[in-house]
Amino acid sequence: NLRVVTTPAELRAALAGGGRVGLVPTMGYLHEGHAALIRQARRACGVVVVSVFVNPKQFGANEDLGRYPRDLERDLGVVGAAGADLLFHPDAATIYPAGYATTVSVSGVSGPPEGTSRPGHFDGVTTVVLKLLNLVQPDRVYFGEKDWQQLAVVRRMVRDLNVPVEVVGVPTVREASGLALSSRNSYLTPGQQARATVLSRALRAVQAAAAAGERGAAQLRQAGLEVLAQEPEVQLDYLTVVDSDMQERARVENDPMTRVLVAARMFGVRLIDNVPLWPV
Ligand code: PAJ
Repeated sequence: NLRVVTTPAELRAALAGGGRVGLVPTMGYLHEGHAALIRQARRACGVVVVSVFVNPKQFGANEDLGRYPRDLERDLGVVGAAGADLLFHPDAATIYPAGYATTVSVSGVSGPPEGTSRPGHFDGVTTVVLKLLNLVQPDRVYFGEKDWQQLAVVRRMVRDLNVPVEVVGVPTVREASGLALSSRNSYLTPGQQARATVLSRALRAVQAAAAAGERGAAQLRQAGLEVLAQEPEVQLDYLTVVDSDMQERARVENDPMTRVLVAARMFGVRLIDNVPLWPV
């Protein structure tokens, strides 16, 4: 008994009463990664809201807003099967009506690496996420570790602006091949997806080098670059080892928050992935 609502008024009415509210913000074209977030919310919350909104403000001028995949009928099936109560599907004019003029911008942690490659992207993310938090007023909000820097930026915003919500990070769901699930994988043929596993293999090579005792960031990075070099289709954007503040250091520590991040264009599609340097 999933309900679909499109306006803030419908949303508020549907949420009246209820219990602990969990929100899973998405841009739709849902897959098992999104479903994992919804199921985790379902276990912890009395009411689970999934938002589906392809947020124009987080796409750059030369990015894939126009061709971003959409299939609300299919999304309804995924959201219902994962056990959510409400699907909030506003249109762009509801979120950004004529005259809309406000941007939420986090500095520092929204810079390199991803923020430098996609200028304005995280401003678009924090702006829409704060709006969704204000509309739904959830107790908990769920984000995937797949977008590691996004999770860090949202945590920073919530702390800095005293947003009364608990941010929950959920581990990345992968294909058996290692490929991280992404709505953008739908741009790739099965053969191209097989070749895109080079990204997760490179990340594992960095983990292996660290496990073998390497502590120099340049050497760790080199271990990943050697794997990426085997795949001519990789147009590397970045491969970097960062701490919890997205800072690169010359030598890594045994800090469980140390993360290996990669972004590359393959077959015309920009793909990102990341792993902890020290697997748990
Ligand atoms: P979207 O790319 O649809 O992702 C929605 C949520 O699902 C994000 O928190 C993302 O990290 C998570 N997710 C995606 N793939 C995943 C995977 N393989 N495993 C685990 N979690 C995964 O991220 C966005 O939308 C937008 O930026 C949004 C936060 C909705 C703001 O517009």
